[in-house]
Amino acid sequence: MRIEEEIMDFKQQVVTALHQAIGDTIPEAQLMQLIETPKSADLGDYAFPTFSLAKVLRQAPKQIAADLVTKIDASSFEQVQAVGGYVNFFLPKVAYAHELLTTIAADPAHYGDATVGHGNVPIDMSSPNIAKPMSMGHLRSTVIGNALANILTKVGYSPIKINHLGDWGTQFGKLIVAYRKWGNEADVRRDPIHYLVQYYVQFHEEAEKDPSLDEAARAVFKQLEDGDETVTALWKWFRSASLKEFNRIYAMLGISFDSYNGEAFYNDKMDAVVAELTDKHLLHESQGAEIVDLSQYDLNPALIKKSDGATLYMTRDLAAAIYRHDHYDFVQSLYVVGNEQREHFQQLKAVLKEMGHDWADDIHHIPFGLITSGGKKLSTRKGNIILLERVLNDAIDLAQQQIADKHPDLPDAETVAHQVGVGAVIFHDLKNERLDSFDFNLEEVVRFEGETGPYVQYTNARANSILRKTTTAPAPEVALTDPSAWGVLKALGDYPDVVLRAAREYEPSVIAKYTLRLAKAFNQYYANTKVLVDDAELPARLALVKAVSLVLENALSLLGVGAPEEM
Ligand code: ARG
Repeated sequence: MRIEEEIMDFKQQVVTALHQAIGDTIPEAQLMQLIETPKSADLGDYAFPTFSLAKVLRQAPKQIAADLVTKIDASSFEQVQAVGGYVNFFLPKVAYAHELLTTIAADPAHYGDATVGHGNVPIDMSSPNIAKPMSMGHLRSTVIGNALANILTKVGYSPIKINHLGDWGTQFGKLIVAYRKWGNEADVRRDPIHYLVQYYVQFHEEAEKDPSLDEAARAVFKQLEDGDETVTALWKWFRSASLKEFNRIYAMLGISFDSYNGEAFYNDKMDAVVAELTDKHLLHESQGAEIVDLSQYDLNPALIKKSDGATLYMTRDLAAAIYRHDHYDFVQSLYVVGNEQREHFQQLKAVLKEMGHDWADDIHHIPFGLITSGGKKLSTRKGNIILLERVLNDAIDLAQQQIADKHPDLPDAETVAHQVGVGAVIFHDLKNERLDSFDFNLEEVVRFEGETGPYVQYTNARANSILRKTTTAPAPEVALTDPSAWGVLKALGDYPDVVLRAAREYEPSVIAKYTLRLAKAFNQYYANTKVLVDDAELPARLALVKAVSLVLENALSLLGVGAPEEM
């Protein structure tokens, strides 16, 4: 039996016991739903509220609870108690600890694995725009996408991480016009993104005064779409120079992709989309542009072709969705893209539906909120950007300083500082619920106390250092009777459920919050219990400490955050 089943078995035992006592008045599945987890430990581990029975039985909840306790077979529990309208169940702690700790020790990497489903799941993630810096928004997409890929793998799926690079579009017209007017080759060779961004920002400033620049940019982009040789050569150069810099950031984050097929990849795949839309009589003309009417979906029309014949973001995404379907035969197709593109993805699904593609239902936009800085929205166009690489390097520096204070003789301090600094940025991003917007303040992010990644990492390092201080080996089969361990055991036992919830809700913050909860439970235990005392339970306590470290490591790795043994 898998551990999640074994742990859930304890809950199932509660359901079975209740069912035997109540009879068929409430089906087992419904009982499972009704069972609560009491807020306070002296109310037990599971509680059954009797209020739903009160109507049926025409009895006061308190009376029902008192009756139930006399009927329930309590042999597999430590205690079953009636308190007010509740029946409280206390799990058999020693048996629970034994079951849990032996299972974690037997196969730590697979603790919490499940088979929710299987099959390919393309994840459109990161997808920055060429010749622009990768923004904090793209960071969110990158780390959320990567965490989802890890989480979905753990529950049985085969994710495919796709970087849908913004390597095509009208911005290349602007950029090329700006480069020709104000740029020079040596600068771009030396520091590509810096200068390309500068040209881009300058273009927008100048275009406000001189609208003819926009006209020129449109013309150049048209040349690019028509395959003009010199314009295409510039485009290729900008693309490869930008990608090289992006890859440096991905390497820092420790994140890789299975595909870099970006927008340009679909240049030769859009005619087929337009032809299909035409064949199916879905394309209409409106003010010179070609659109698909989506009024029956309560959505604005989807723009398929512009009046100048240039194709659009939507047309590429239609081609991409169809390509992914044909190529990967996906069971789900995810797009980790900011909430501001919500309507775009609603339109994308609606157009695919109109085309008769039922699999459009398997497409899910995974939106996320904005990262602000000092309360202000970050925008590339106005030049108000945080350069991600600088953020990561600053975070590593801050981590380095703190490590030097706390642990001056740490071996391999540089690697640890990298894991801590980068991990802090990733963790901060992931502990916020996807859709929440949050402010980014580096000092907060890299703190070793509070709800931070370094706090969790530090807790894991502390667990490891406890284990290093003794020659006694952890032994999960030794009985752990100490009641002060219960909070930690319960938190450890929650992990499989937490993984399932994160996968179901596409929500890495569920894992991040869990690591904080487990770390807090462990630190509380450690503050109140002398772990290293040489008595009969020492090997069991060490098994508990070891299990905490293994589960923290496992959970952090799902988030893409490293877990140094010392820091
Ligand atoms: N490059 C786009 C941006 O930065 C995101 C692309 C998202 N993916 C997609 N298939 N549309 O806004």
